[in-house]
Amino acid sequence: MGRLKSLRCAKCGSEPASNTAFRCAACDAILEVNVEIGHLTRTDLAAMRQSRDATIWRWFDFFPVEDRSCIVSLGEGGTPLLHARRLGARLDIPNLYLKNDTVLPTGSLKDRSNSVGLSKAKELGFTTTTVMSTGNAAASVAAYSAAAGLKSIVMVPAGTAPSKIVQARAYGATVVVVEGSFDNEVALLYKAAVKEFGWYDCLSSNPYRDEGKKSYAYELVDQLEKQIPDWVIHPTAGGTGIYAMWKGFKEFFSLGWITRMPRLVASQSAAAAPIVAAFEKGLSHVEPVVARETIAESIQVGNPASLGWRALAALRESGGTAVALTDEEILEAQALTGSLAGIFAEPAAATSVGAAKKLRSAGIIRQEEIVVCNLTGHGLKQPEAIRLRDEDLRPIQPTLAALREQLKEV
Ligand SMILES: Cc1ncc(COP(=O)(O)O)c(C=O)c1O
Ligand SMILES: [Zn+2]
Repeated sequence: MGRLKSLRCAKCGSEPASNTAFRCAACDAILEVNVEIGHLTRTDLAAMRQSRDATIWRWFDFFPVEDRSCIVSLGEGGTPLLHARRLGARLDIPNLYLKNDTVLPTGSLKDRSNSVGLSKAKELGFTTTTVMSTGNAAASVAAYSAAAGLKSIVMVPAGTAPSKIVQARAYGATVVVVEGSFDNEVALLYKAAVKEFGWYDCLSSNPYRDEGKKSYAYELVDQLEKQIPDWVIHPTAGGTGIYAMWKGFKEFFSLGWITRMPRLVASQSAAAAPIVAAFEKGLSHVEPVVARETIAESIQVGNPASLGWRALAALRESGGTAVALTDEEILEAQALTGSLAGIFAEPAAATSVGAAKKLRSAGIIRQEEIVVCNLTGHGLKQPEAIRLRDEDLRPIQPTLAALREQLKEV
């Protein structure tokens, strides 16, 4: 059974008095969950690997949930790890693997986090959940809240495109449109509302939720038959994925279940790349930037305040790196992933493939190395990223002659 040892501040070591305090009273940093795993044995590992449960919950002992009856699952995790031979040949990385999280229940990696987060909300007795988001997180929190029987409230800034809100609405969330910008007015109201109404906060300021993406590490070890990838590349915004994956690999290492560790890479859009900038400057903290418009909408985060510094530490500890991509490079990676691997990834997700290409061209990734790119969101989340020209939609006469004519142009 997963046993919550304690919530603890990763910065100053303080421990909170209550298990619903998410921030450190002494230094205001986001707390971290420590799950007791020292008792686990190789027999446990074998049982987890053989479990008929294909979801992240086969790794129950590593998550901060004590009561299995509180698990809220929509079948998340256990996503395919595909050996992408054609795409690998194009990038000159024969051992290129794609972790296809586009097939998660709500179409993005957020389901790994929210399955754990919402299970804990149920266990702690919350009745209302909340998140501020314009996309993937909102949809995921709404879906898992619906499955848990909890009410969800989603805050978005005025002017958010309706297409970004429909998925959350479909799962029954209350969507509140707030005057002002996401990083300022909406964020301030969000913080105040969590405090005032005692709602369950589903942002990366929730330490329980943040444990969910450790499942990437467990699944990769399992799927690669305990071969450790040389590189794992993850599209990065708040930094949860990098931080949690590293924690997951370290847990397996500490148990002696693996004997080496991968290098982790954060891929970002050049228009919102505070983690890349901090990595390159050798800083131990992330300086906020003003995020510019980018095609990689889902990772357009300028201030990864909660976990940015921990992600940075994970990149360094792993001997990895951080890569920024232009919108042009991101769209090229999306097109290559679709046409050579058969996966329609949203632009943010395709940054991992763009980063693999760049690192291979620079000789940093070597030809024989095993590289995993996490594809973290479905292309249908943002279909307008693929521009259709007028001529793409112009009809032809329904004759073979007209069809032949058209095919000449292709
Ligand atoms: C599609 C997609 N990929 C990656 C991320 C990365 O988030 P994080 O850095 O918090 O793991 C997000 C969320 O912000 C996302 O929506
Ligand atoms: Zn502290």
